[in-house]
Amino acid sequence: MTQSVTTDLSVVILAAGKGSRMYSHRPKVLHCLADKPLLGHVIDAAKTLNPAQIVVVYGHGGDQVPSTFAKAGVQFVKQEPQLGTGHAVQQAIPLLPNKGQTLVLYGDVPLIRPETLSAVCANRDTLVVLTALLDDPKGYGRIIRDKVGKFLRIVEENDANAAEKTVCEINTGIIAAPTQALADWLKALKNNNAQGEYYLTDIVPQAIVDGMEVASVHAANLWEVFGVNSRAQLADLERRYQLDYAERLMARGVSLRDPARIDIRGELVCGQDVEIDINCIFEGRVTLGDGVIVGANCVIKDAEIGSGSIIAPMSALDSMKSGPHCRIGPFARIRPGTTLAAHGHVGNFVEMKNVVMGEGSKANHLTYLGDATIGRNVNVGAGTITCNYDGANKHRTVIEDDAFIGSDTQLVAPVTVGKGATLGAGTTLSKDAPAGELTISRAKQISIAGWKRPTKKKVT
Ligand code: UD1
Ligand code: CA
Repeated sequence: MTQSVTTDLSVVILAAGKGSRMYSHRPKVLHCLADKPLLGHVIDAAKTLNPAQIVVVYGHGGDQVPSTFAKAGVQFVKQEPQLGTGHAVQQAIPLLPNKGQTLVLYGDVPLIRPETLSAVCANRDTLVVLTALLDDPKGYGRIIRDKVGKFLRIVEENDANAAEKTVCEINTGIIAAPTQALADWLKALKNNNAQGEYYLTDIVPQAIVDGMEVASVHAANLWEVFGVNSRAQLADLERRYQLDYAERLMARGVSLRDPARIDIRGELVCGQDVEIDINCIFEGRVTLGDGVIVGANCVIKDAEIGSGSIIAPMSALDSMKSGPHCRIGPFARIRPGTTLAAHGHVGNFVEMKNVVMGEGSKANHLTYLGDATIGRNVNVGAGTITCNYDGANKHRTVIEDDAFIGSDTQLVAPVTVGKGATLGAGTTLSKDAPAGELTISRAKQISIAGWKRPTKKKVT
C-alpha cells in the first residue's frame, strides 16, 4: 500500500524513562501488549498519520530499543541523562525540519487511537494538549484554566497547591505544536521546580505569551490515554485492548460467546456469522471465512480457515490453510506448511505437519501425518503414522486419490500409495503400493488348539 506522506508532520515518541516499577531488565516500552511491544503500538498509531518522520527518544537498556525497532522506519535519539519531558523532546529537535507541526507521544501509552491523534493534529497553527477528566487525578499534571475556561498552564502534582490538586482535568502528556515555536519554547525552559526537571508542560505559558491560543482535545475512551508503569497496569490495558477488539468484531457480525474470554495477539479478520466460543487465542494473522465456528480453547496462529469450516474445541493450528467446509478437531494439532482442500476432516489426536491434503480426504483419529501429499477422497485410518524421519533426513509420503489406508499403518517414507490402493490394517509399508490393489504386510494369523494359559504356582 503506498500512502502519500503528510510532509509537514513530525512525531516524537518519548521512551527514555526507566520504568522502575516494572522491576525488569527490559526497558518498559519493550514489554508486550497483545504480543507487540508497547512502543510498537505507539509507532503503528503514529504511522496512520503518514508523518514525514518519527523520532523515538530512548534512554535505558543500551541499544535494545533501537535494535528491536531497527526496521520500523523510525529514527532514534538517545537522551542521557534524563532531565525531564521537555529535555527529552529537545533531543529530537535537531532531527526535525523547522517548518510544520510536531506531535509528541509517550512510548508507554500504547492504546492511543488514530482518530484521537488526528483530532490532536487537526489545528496545525496552535498548541493542542490532549487532556482527560479523571475521578482520581492524583499523580498527573493538572490543567489550570481561568474563570472562562481559558487554558493557562499545567501544574505538576509535586508543584500543585491544595486548590490545584482538586482539579480533575489532567494532562495526558500528548501534545501537538508548530515545530518552530516548540523549538523556541523548549530553549527557554527552566528546571526550577519540585523535581528539578525541564518540564514539557511549561511550554503552555510561553505559547500564551506568544499570543497563541492553547486548545485541548479529549479522547473518546479514557483507556487510550492510560500509561503503563507496572505489570498490573499492563495487564489492565491488555484486558481493555482485548475487550475493545472483541467489541469491534461483534459490531462487524462476529458472535463471541464471551467477549471477555478471547485473546487476539495480532490480527483477526472474520467473515460474517463467525462464531467463537470461549478461551480462544489468535496469534499473528488469522482469517476466518463466513460461518466458521471455532470451539472452546483453540489456539490458532497465522491461519486461513475457509468458509463453513468447524474447528472443534482444544485444537492448535499454526501456519496452515483450510479450504471451505473442513472439520478440524477436537484435539487436532496442525503444524506449519499444512493445507487442507475443501471438505477435509482432521479428527481428534491427529497431528499434521507440512501436509497437502486434497478435497474430501479424512484423517479422523490418532494419526501423525508429516511431509505428505495426500490426494482427494483418501481415508486415513486410525493410528496411521508417516515415518518421515530416518534419523538424519526427512522424506515425503505420497498418497494418491481414493486410497484407503487401513488402521495402524506405518508408511516408511519415501513411499507412494497409488490411486485407489488399499492398505490392510497393520501394514508397515516400505515399498510403493500399486494403484487399485490391496497391499498388506501382516504376520499370518494362527490359532493353537488346546493351548492353556499358565497358572500361578502354589507356594507350599
Ligand atoms: C508527565 C507530565 C504530566 C502528565 C503525565 C501523564 C511533564 C512534566 N509531566 O508526568 O503533566 O500528567 O506525564 O502521564 O511532562 N520521559 C523521557 N525522558 C525524561 C522523562 C520522561 O523520555 O527525561 C518519558 C517517559 O519515558 C514517559 C514520558 O516521558 O514515556 C512521561 O514521563 P513520566 O516520568 O512518566 O512523566 P510524569 O512525571 O508522570
Ligand atoms: Ca507517567
